Amino acid sequence: MKFFVDTAEVAEIRALSEAGLVDGVTTNPSLIAKSGRKMAEVIAEICEITPGPVSAEVTATDFDTMLAEGRFLRGIARNVAVKVPLTEAGLSVCRSLADEGTKVNVTLCFSAAQALLAAKAGAAYISPFVGRLDDIAYDGMLLIADILKIYRNYSYFKTEVLVASIRHPVHLVEAAKLGAEVATLPPNVIRQLIKHPLTDRGLESFLADWRKTGQSIL
Ligand code: G3P
Repeated sequence: MKFFVDTAEVAEIRALSEAGLVDGVTTNPSLIAKSGRKMAEVIAEICEITPGPVSAEVTATDFDTMLAEGRFLRGIARNVAVKVPLTEAGLSVCRSLADEGTKVNVTLCFSAAQALLAAKAGAAYISPFVGRLDDIAYDGMLLIADILKIYRNYSYFKTEVLVASIRHPVHLVEAAKLGAEVATLPPNVIRQLIKHPLTDRGLESFLADWRKTGQSIL
């Protein structure tokens, strides 16, 4: 399973990359706004840190402007994946950019039917938002299961399921059990994955016993 980090905070991406935990990055307009930085500048910097795909999202809603923005964004670095919303214009832009050899991440997916359309439009990734579905009392993971089932019926679909809006470790574990290809995780969720109270307690007692020996390895 590939781990993407869902942030536009360069320091976070650098730290997690050093730990070998980042296969790619996803951003969206809200995350860019939160960073307080110029989009082109921050995307270029992220692309230098991570060799994997870096999703940069268009902000226009009409076909022509969205396509022009997508072409601009992919020109920032060779590993930019253009992110488009799941709208009619977004799907048309997806098809155009995919035909030009650009990886497209179709975002804001909330139904299996939408995911089917994204695959037909040549998306490299479909981003279903599990947390936001949970927020409205629908089990977001059921959508992941449905999309994977549908995609597996048609081996010619090359679209990868990129589970987004992950809020906690259980989302990740459930997505991995279902076999989703990618999960995009906020940095705090990645840190939650690492931590376990028994690990902390076990390490504390190993080190206490070790100190009693008076030895040092080096
Ligand atoms: O990857 C999409 C993600 O950023 C949305 O997450 O928590 O705002 O629903 P959230």
